[in-house]
Amino acid sequence: MQSEEIRSRFLAFFEKRGHAIIPSAPLVPLNDPSVLFNTAGMQPLVPYLLGQKHPQGSRIADVQKCVRTGDLDDIGDNRHLSFFEMMGNWSLGDYFKEDAIKWSYEFLTSKEEGLGLDVSRLYFTVFEGDENAPYDQESKDLWMSLGVPEHRIYALGSEDNWWSPGDNGPCGPCSEMFYDMTGTVGDLSKEGFLQAIKDESVIEIWNDVFMEYEKMDGKVIGKLAQKNVDTGAGLERITAVMQGKQTAYDTDIFADIINCVPEFVSENKRRIIADHVRTSVFLISDGVVPSNKERGYVLRRLMRRAVMLIRGYETTTGGFLTIAGKVIDKCNAIYPNLDREVVFPIIRDEIEQFEKTLSQGLKEFEKGEDAFVLATTYGFPIELTLELAKESGRTIDMEDFKAKMAEHQKLSQTASAGMFKGGLANHNEKTIRLHTAHHLLLSALQEVLGKEVKQRGSNITEERLRIDFAFDRKMTDEEKKKVEDIVNDRIQAGLNVVRREMPRAEAETIGAEMEFGVKYPDVVSVYFIEDKEGNAVSKEFCGGPHVSNTSELGVFKIQKEEASSQGVRRIKAVLS
Ligand code: ALA
Repeated sequence: MQSEEIRSRFLAFFEKRGHAIIPSAPLVPLNDPSVLFNTAGMQPLVPYLLGQKHPQGSRIADVQKCVRTGDLDDIGDNRHLSFFEMMGNWSLGDYFKEDAIKWSYEFLTSKEEGLGLDVSRLYFTVFEGDENAPYDQESKDLWMSLGVPEHRIYALGSEDNWWSPGDNGPCGPCSEMFYDMTGTVGDLSKEGFLQAIKDESVIEIWNDVFMEYEKMDGKVIGKLAQKNVDTGAGLERITAVMQGKQTAYDTDIFADIINCVPEFVSENKRRIIADHVRTSVFLISDGVVPSNKERGYVLRRLMRRAVMLIRGYETTTGGFLTIAGKVIDKCNAIYPNLDREVVFPIIRDEIEQFEKTLSQGLKEFEKGEDAFVLATTYGFPIELTLELAKESGRTIDMEDFKAKMAEHQKLSQTASAGMFKGGLANHNEKTIRLHTAHHLLLSALQEVLGKEVKQRGSNITEERLRIDFAFDRKMTDEEKKKVEDIVNDRIQAGLNVVRREMPRAEAETIGAEMEFGVKYPDVVSVYFIEDKEGNAVSKEFCGGPHVSNTSELGVFKIQKEEASSQGVRRIKAVLS
């Protein structure tokens, strides 16, 4: 089944069941400054999920354009795409679990109207319950009433089966549907099921969210005025399932786009190029222009990465435009706003400007500039630097590069939000001072609140630092004061900040702080802040940079302490 048939079957199925079919909203949210791009079908519908009347009624279905850029580095593997289309059906205070589940099941399994998937290759999950909502027995019973065997239904916690678009807004427990990609998996224990997902032999294909709750500042605060249904099924993934492919890149959605990419680059790189050019075309068509800020920066990063990979093929501009033209031809029947006259001039300008930056970067390389600086300042992918180094007989210290990049990412991306935040890290003096203060703050928090306080995210701008850390209640004024005093005492004491390189295992043994979820290289750099006796008051895995003595920091002050998400607090602090 071709992707266009899947799209039209989905819409026809729900139209027949009383849903109004609406067009996709633009990728750039109209009235929501909290997100860069729509990352899920529900985002443009938030006001209606909260109770506003939708002009087309209480049953809606669509295929929404989405961009997710939280994991750009994973693109090119089997699953990740930076642009995708999400099929969804909505009840805005209309039907609830019974119809949602029945229709999902029918669409997945019906040969006439739906996908005709083999029931024995499906698995299901329901919410296991927590302090916010009970175990979802109802959904489980509903799946079973349709013939799903009980042992194919797994109960999972809020990490997997509670869906919300962020810290604020409508949310609720969800029930997900999974498909055995191999046809050989069969019955699984819960552990086996979770492992099969990790192995990608079983993949999630649809999510039904029962949105009857509301979140504020990361906490569920109660029920909404109405019970909603929000569902999401990735068109690319379902197409892979229907075409018996492991990945969307091998389906009709990508085949002729990838065919425009020269064959001399590796398969993985061809995928990255196809993905990035496709996303760029859609972003530009929705009004995004390459720049150094926010949406424009995401676009610039995607375009430059693609350009770097295509370089050397015809002219770079020609190569990029051939692929972009194919995307436009393929998709403008569905998205008539894709237009060469709009897209091509922006691509040409950006590539021309980038070529200038590149030749400047090349000069810096010849002068001996560091791989990290080339990557962050001139947008040189490390592959290019390595290639140039090989040609000129230079060696690149990859461990050093990886450590610096890990730290760079820690500084410029929040771990919690799935969106790209700060852009290029600004290694000027103010941010460097705040960075050192950040280390002092984390260790002071552990002294006052307990060693179990762990960092969950961070972000530093020229004005302030921000830290997210695992802790389950508000801090008292006394605790905040104590933390401030410890940090300020250490600033006044003029402690040395020392960087040491060591094997990762050794750094772990001495208990250096590492950030949850970050992959570190085998040799790491650890920053120590040491008192006069040489005892470390702080030790963290970190690529720097830092001041060399804490006396350079000034006066430290906590501006705000608040909830960031469940079980995670956020502090904003400044130096003056
Ligand atoms: N909003 C839900 C999701 O994106 C359906 O998975």
